[in-house]
Amino acid sequence: MKVLVIGGAGYIGSHVSRTLLDRGCKVAVFDNLSSGCKENLFSEAEFIHGDILDTSALSNTMNSGFDALIHLAAFKAAGESMTHPEKYSVNNITGTLNILNCAASAKIGAVVFSSSAAVYGEPRYLPMDEEHPVNPENYYGFTKLEMERFLDWYDKLKGIRYAALRYFNAAGYDSAGRVTGLERNPNNLLPVIMETAARVREKLEIFGDDWDTPDGTCIRDYVHVSDLAEAHALALEHLVSQSKSFIVNLGSENGISVKSMLETAREVTGRPVPAVVVDRRPGDPARVVASSTKAKEILGWKARSSDVRTLIASTWNIYQKQFSS
Ligand code: UD1
Repeated sequence: MKVLVIGGAGYIGSHVSRTLLDRGCKVAVFDNLSSGCKENLFSEAEFIHGDILDTSALSNTMNSGFDALIHLAAFKAAGESMTHPEKYSVNNITGTLNILNCAASAKIGAVVFSSSAAVYGEPRYLPMDEEHPVNPENYYGFTKLEMERFLDWYDKLKGIRYAALRYFNAAGYDSAGRVTGLERNPNNLLPVIMETAARVREKLEIFGDDWDTPDGTCIRDYVHVSDLAEAHALALEHLVSQSKSFIVNLGSENGISVKSMLETAREVTGRPVPAVVVDRRPGDPARVVASSTKAKEILGWKARSSDVRTLIASTWNIYQKQFSS
């Protein structure tokens, strides 16, 4: 199978590309390297340095013949999306429409789309399954939901079959150490803990310890990026063999608190990882945990490497090498 991975130089996209190459696919990566990086490219994959706002670059690329594409090229900072929504409108929404229009002209009939649990908003019940009402609380989540809706229309009108994969909290690195690019200025919990352990950041700020949870800190469902990558490969195979669109959650079904992530990181790294408790972050729910029953039923997928030690150890392996002091 020949697959175009748009956003393939990013954190998740590079793991997806690696998994597809390992499974014998031909891969081309299309990326503008705005948040992705060259270290995340593999010599076996073709690289096209292009932007999803450049429709001629997109259509030239797609016209070279692909069986399917994976779209991961989006901005993802929930906080920033509330202060700079126009960035998210242009890149996430216009960019996705460009991709769909070019895919329709190039007769690419299968699209795997990187969606997010952010489409659900504040949890009304746990674990959250795909029937949970969608009510995004930030503009980022809204753009992901709109992109899913465009996909649904292009399925009906243009026959493009899609898989929308709603990731919970992606974490971890390839356990063989083959992906080495680090995110610049990360905001997500595990990279922030890693930068603190590596002493490039002074301390972790814990956003509140008075939540209604056993240790008072927020609970999230962290899922290993290599588990996510495997789900993309399975979703592609399913789309091509069944020709039917679907939406699935991808989570570990295991809730981990901020304190428990921090304490395990201290053990795994052997570093002190200083931390202070600060005010709650606006918009944070106390608990988010996925139900991934549907992914198991449809794809036979289950998170296998998402235990907290593996998440931390695989990430520390990369951070330690790059910031060794
Ligand atoms: C965030 C996004 C979500 C997106 C997901 C994946 C927000 C509000 N949500 O999820 O839309 O789909 O990333 O990219 O941005 N924490 C700290 N200190 C820190 C960083 C985080 O205490 O310095 C806590 C947070 O309060 C939260 C947990 O760690 O409870 C995880 O936070 P984070 O990694 O930012 O992910 P989410 O907010 O769950």
